Amino acid sequence: MSTTTAPTLGLTIPALAHALPRVEAEIHRMATSSSLPIVNEFSGRITAAGGKRLRSVLILASTVAMAGDVTDRAVTSAACVELLHAGSLVHDDLMDDAAERRGVPTVNAAWGPGPAVLVGDFMLARASQVALRDISPFAAERLAEAVADLVEGQVMEVLDLHDPNRAPESALRSIALKTGALFRVGCVLAAHCADADEATTARMAEYGASFGLLFQILDDLLDLASTRLRLGKPVGNDLRQGVYTFPLLRVMTPDLKALLAGDPDEVLAAVRRGPMVEDTLAYCRDLARRTAAALPELPASESADVLRALPSAYLNWASALIA
Ligand code: FPP
Ligand code: MG
Repeated sequence: MSTTTAPTLGLTIPALAHALPRVEAEIHRMATSSSLPIVNEFSGRITAAGGKRLRSVLILASTVAMAGDVTDRAVTSAACVELLHAGSLVHDDLMDDAAERRGVPTVNAAWGPGPAVLVGDFMLARASQVALRDISPFAAERLAEAVADLVEGQVMEVLDLHDPNRAPESALRSIALKTGALFRVGCVLAAHCADADEATTARMAEYGASFGLLFQILDDLLDLASTRLRLGKPVGNDLRQGVYTFPLLRVMTPDLKALLAGDPDEVLAAVRRGPMVEDTLAYCRDLARRTAAALPELPASESADVLRALPSAYLNWASALIA
């Protein structure tokens, strides 16, 4: 049997060998389904540039763990979640005025800010349409709720910009919405596609939400504590934009607050010398344990093992990128 791995995490997941390429093909089909070639060019380019496809791996492995097999609806669910995610990043890059993502120029840099709004909207609309037509009204409604959560999480971040007194809990609430919600809905859709009962669905929702938090806290830590070389993108972006993230807020001191008004590189140097990295990793080790513990009782299977191992595997993968 051919095998594949959850990209970049080094976990071998034979059950997903055939399903991940199907998700990829479905993402491409949806992203290039405009009657306007220029929309297809930009939407197709950003989705083809990939990413870790962690949300897809979670959705597919969850479906297999609950239902024994990957269903067509699970493949479509993964593709819809990835397209929504990519669309939200098109808007995020516009808000960040970012020039590059996943090694390719952002839509705002290559085509302009107005078109970036439109391309992101197109991806969002297509994902919603396909979810309603090919999965179910339930799935489309859950995805729409998640999009609203993403927007609210992002708005909360904007409201707290440049606030050195931002509470760590406020950052947590924002990332639970802007990132946790999409991980959560992916796991809920997996349960839906597997015809899981209510209690199992609730546990899967908790697993997904918790995994999303872990993912975003590590993303925020790497922005403060990794290097451009290791990460493949510039670091210190959050600081430069005035986004004071959870890892930084947990170790905030009057001295650090004073530094925030000055050169971001000095803040980066100071936090790397201090307790931030170890503090955040300790928090994430506990969060990874809690994430795995949130899983429902599942029949013994390779996919269930993968779901249990994935939070710590992701933490280890991210830790290796710290400078
Ligand atoms: C990336 O986070 C951004 C998000 C997870 C959410 C962005 C949400 C919106 C722009 C709301 C609009 C949503 C839709 C669906 C159209 P980050 O900036 O911390 O990560 P990065 O380092 O990858 O930029
Ligand atoms: Mg960003």
